[in-house]
Amino acid sequence: MFERLDTLPADPILGLMAIYRADPDAKKVDLGVGVFKDARGETPVLAAVRKAEAAVLARQTSKTYVAPAGNAAFNSAMERQVFGANHAVLAADRVRSIQGPGGSGALRLGSELIRIASPQATVHVSLPSWANHVPLLSNTGLKLARYPYYDAGKGAIDFGAMCKALEQLPAGDVVVLHASCHNPTGADLSQAQWQELLPIFRRRGLLPYIDMAYQGLGTGLDEDAYGIRLFAAELPELLVAASCSKNFGLYRERVGVLHFVVDKPAVALAALSQEVRIARSLYSMPPDHGAAIVAEILGNDALRASWVQELATMRDRINGLRRQVVAKLGEIAPGHDFSFIAKQQGMFSLLGLTVAQVTQLRTEHHVYMTDDSRINIAGLGEHNLDYFAQSVAQVL
Ligand SMILES: Cc1ncc(COP(=O)(O)O)c(C=O)c1O
Repeated sequence: MFERLDTLPADPILGLMAIYRADPDAKKVDLGVGVFKDARGETPVLAAVRKAEAAVLARQTSKTYVAPAGNAAFNSAMERQVFGANHAVLAADRVRSIQGPGGSGALRLGSELIRIASPQATVHVSLPSWANHVPLLSNTGLKLARYPYYDAGKGAIDFGAMCKALEQLPAGDVVVLHASCHNPTGADLSQAQWQELLPIFRRRGLLPYIDMAYQGLGTGLDEDAYGIRLFAAELPELLVAASCSKNFGLYRERVGVLHFVVDKPAVALAALSQEVRIARSLYSMPPDHGAAIVAEILGNDALRASWVQELATMRDRINGLRRQVVAKLGEIAPGHDFSFIAKQQGMFSLLGLTVAQVTQLRTEHHVYMTDDSRINIAGLGEHNLDYFAQSVAQVL
């Protein structure tokens, strides 16, 4: 049976990680995979996570299954963090949540739910977007289409083209939006733009599906959730897939959550029963550890305060690096305008290089980024910023 299988090319990001690891050059710079790195180039375990983990382990008396919908304390703590504790949709009991294996698992759970509720719906994803959005959202059988998002010439959102495209969509279609820290462009919707999008969603009867993989890494925990809170307050239905990989540094623990906002508690009950069936058929039960850590942090004032502080340190490092990258490239490659990098947020920006230039950076300079010239800003620091900027200048 398996002789018929073709060998697939490596995933663009995972393949790049493997080539980077195999490169023996001491100067090599990894700007590929999207993980936060500190000034020493490490992805540390947060202090709040270490403390929460110790408390969870000390208390644990059993390893029996949690439940298909996951850890209830985690799910409700995430609802408060994502929507804000006093949001009207929580008071009206219009939100249900299911823990997912990572933000990716949550995205898939949402796609499965859409397919059951509305198999003819098309899911519209920004162009460009995180590469894994395509399989996660369409391998369920849903049709996938793209809407224009980014103007590479300006290094900013092409908001006019985006709105024009959304205005053409049929009722019942699904539009995926990034809550903040858009991957791969770093170009985020402003509060005014979220407000302008709202009547389009209302008028056209579109379902927003908001991916929040970086809450707190853009402007702040509340600011990064602005669009979610606005849409939840104003629209009858909304899906949110949130990840705790980046903002809690829990990547390998695989912790995320799918929230669905519906217009009546009875619908919420039905949707949750469907989600439980979906989870049961995909992996049965989610992993426990990461969700238990997040629940511990969010449920304990001192731990939460310490995590908020660590998150601010990560965010400040990225924003500071953005300004340093612009200054350094301005100094070393003065004919080229990279000022857009400092206007964006989150870990990623697109440098706007050709595939040939990206390949040259990799093969001649040992500087690794994905073929679309996406860089993980957090991979830079005092130790490699000069070298990075000189290498970019040489391929320009
Ligand atoms: C935009 C976006 N969504 C979702 C995810 C999912 O992350 P995870 O499955 O590791 O929680 C990522 C990870 O890179 C991402 O960039």
